[in-house]
Amino acid sequence: MPVSEPVDIQAMWNERYGEKERIWSGNPNARLAEVVSELAPGRALDLGCGEGGDARWLAQQGWHVVAVDVSDTALQRAAADAGELAARIDFQRHDLMQTFPDGSYDLVSAQFLHSPVPWERDRLLRRAAEAVATGGTLFIVDHGEAPPWASKLDKHVHHFPSAQEVVDGLQLDPPRWDIVRAERAGREAIGSDGQTGSLVDNVIIARRKA
Ligand SMILES: C[S@@+](CC[C@H](N)C(=O)[O-])C[C@H]1O[C@@H](n2cnc3c(N)ncnc32)[C@H](O)[C@@H]1O
Repeated sequence: MPVSEPVDIQAMWNERYGEKERIWSGNPNARLAEVVSELAPGRALDLGCGEGGDARWLAQQGWHVVAVDVSDTALQRAAADAGELAARIDFQRHDLMQTFPDGSYDLVSAQFLHSPVPWERDRLLRRAAEAVATGGTLFIVDHGEAPPWASKLDKHVHHFPSAQEVVDGLQLDPPRWDIVRAERAGREAIGSDGQTGSLVDNVIIARRKA
């Protein structure tokens, strides 16, 4: 039986980011802006922050942000773009399967925290839930299906867990948590090469009561 080589996650994501000068638009994710506008600013943790569009937006809204990614290429871009907002953003490099930032947060956000390699994402998201302070929010947005501009191969090989599967994987203790939202939701979007199309997101919002 062939033994598969361990994947160097950092190198893989650096290579992905190295394909272009910028991969993402620089804008905050649409659902983050929509949902977080309703929250009072506090301490936020952005997991898999990429090039920092969400972290910058959160800092602009008055949040103090810890923004984490495994890719130092992405983090360098995020820090370079932060300007004065850098005073409110602590960029940290972690392979979140190995290490996790200290502290507790009023908002823990995981926006499209996907990876093409198999990983124990449920375990990571459970750790993310532990980092939510009492009264705080866990906010996960996933692709509900491949974007229309994804390659046929990507569409075929990637499993997109449903919102309910993500909630089940979190194993939240009901007396301590309210599931505020767990559903598929469509939106129109523009891809990284300027293509327009309809996307499906899975949106999960949980609030920690105690
Ligand atoms: C699909 S991108 C989303 C980036 C950003 N949240 C956004 O919405 O634009 C996934 C991000 O997760 C990061 N990532 C993947 N695996 C990771 C891991 N094990 N630890 C930390 N970050 C990871 C990648 O480097 C990448 O920036």
